[in-house]
Amino acid sequence: AATKTYNIVLLPGDGVGPEVTRAARDILRVIGDFYGHHFEFSEHLIGGAAIDATGEPLPEATRAACVASDAVLLGAVGGPKWDGGKARPEQGLLAIRKAMGLFANLRPLQVSPVLAHRSPLKKEIVEGVDLIVFRELTGGVYFGEKTRTADRATDLCEYTVPEIERVARAAFQTAQQRRGKVTSVDKANVMETSRLWREVVTRIHAEEFPDITLEHALVDSMAMHLIRKPREYDVILTENMFGDILSDEISVLGGSIGLLPSASLGAGGPGLFEPIHGSAPDIAGQDLANPVGIILSAALLLRHSLKLEDEADSIEAAVAAVLAAGAVTADLGGALGTRAATEAVIDAIRAIH
Ligand code: NAI
Ligand code: MG
Repeated sequence: AATKTYNIVLLPGDGVGPEVTRAARDILRVIGDFYGHHFEFSEHLIGGAAIDATGEPLPEATRAACVASDAVLLGAVGGPKWDGGKARPEQGLLAIRKAMGLFANLRPLQVSPVLAHRSPLKKEIVEGVDLIVFRELTGGVYFGEKTRTADRATDLCEYTVPEIERVARAAFQTAQQRRGKVTSVDKANVMETSRLWREVVTRIHAEEFPDITLEHALVDSMAMHLIRKPREYDVILTENMFGDILSDEISVLGGSIGLLPSASLGAGGPGLFEPIHGSAPDIAGQDLANPVGIILSAALLLRHSLKLEDEADSIEAAVAAVLAAGAVTADLGGALGTRAATEAVIDAIRAIH
C-alpha cells in the first residue's frame, strides 16, 4: 500500500514543552515506521518563545500552519520570564483554540493498578478508573457579556441549541467506542441554560444514540460522586465552567499531573492535542519531565484526528507496559530521565509488534 502522508504541526512552546514535544515526535516516527505512514512534522512558535521572537504569542505563520494541518501537538506555554508582560503566553493558547474552531475538550483518565497508591484517594476507590470528560469550550459564562459598575458585576451565561448538539454528539460517538455510558452534568434545578442543556442532550440521545445509556447528574453532587465512586463513570459530558472545575478535580485522582493527556476538537478540522501540565519551569531543561502526558496526547491525535485507532491503541498499550514495569520518571518515583523514559516506550512498542 502507498504510504500516506499526514501533516502534523508541532508547537513546543516554553519550559519543558520542547523536551516533551521531542519525545512525542520520536514515538510518532516509530509508529509511522511500523504502520507505513509518513508523518511530516513542521515546528512553529507559540507562547513565550513566540513573544521573544516576534512580539506576539500567536504569530500569523503559526495560525496558518495549524489551520492547514491534519493535527496539532502542543507542549506547554508560559513561565516567570513573561509574567507581568503586556503580551502573555496564554493568549497564544486561547487564540489558537479560537482560530481552529475547537469546541470540545477531552480529558481521559485511566488509573493503572500499579500507580493507584499514588492517588490521594484510597487505592481500592481509584484502581481501574477509566473515564473521559467532554467539556464544551466555546459557550457558557466565560464567554457571555460582562458588565461592571462600581458596586455591581454580571457575567451572562448563554448556550444555543447547536452548541449543545455538537458537543453532545461528540460525547455519544466516543461512548459508542467505549463502555456505552454518558453522564451529562448540569445544574438543571436552578439554571435555564442547564434546562436547555438537559433537553437537547436527551433529544440527541433519543434520536441518534438510543443504544447508549444516558444519565443526568447535578454538578454539585457529581463533585462528590467523583471522589466516592469514580469507577462508575465512562463518558462525562458537561458545559464549559462545570467542565473546567470537574476536570481539575479529576486530574488529581490519578496521582501525577505528568501522566495526563488532553484533546480539543472542532468540526472535522484538525484537533489540538496537549498534556494537561504546564511548562514546569522548576524542572525545565534538565531531562526530568515525564513525557507520558504528551505521548498519550499523541495517541489521542492518532485516534481522533487521523482516525488511526490501532496505532493509538499500540501507544497506549506500550505506556501501560512501561508503567507496570516501573520504567518511569522521578515524579512517579522512578529513576529515568525524559529521554530514557521515551526510549522505554519505544522498546515497548517494538515488543508489541
Ligand atoms: P505546571 O503543570 O507547569 O507544574 C506544576 C508542578 O508539576 C511542578 O512542580 C512541575 O515540576 C510538575 N510537573 C508538571 N509537568 C510535569 C511533567 N511532565 N513531569 C514531571 N513533573 C511535572 O503548573 P504551574 O507550575 O502552575 O505553571 C507553570 C507555568 O505553566 C505557568 O507559567 C503557567 O501559566 C503555565 N501553564 C501552562 C499550561 C499550558 O500550556 N496548557 C497549563 C498550566 C500552566
Ligand atoms: Mg482549569
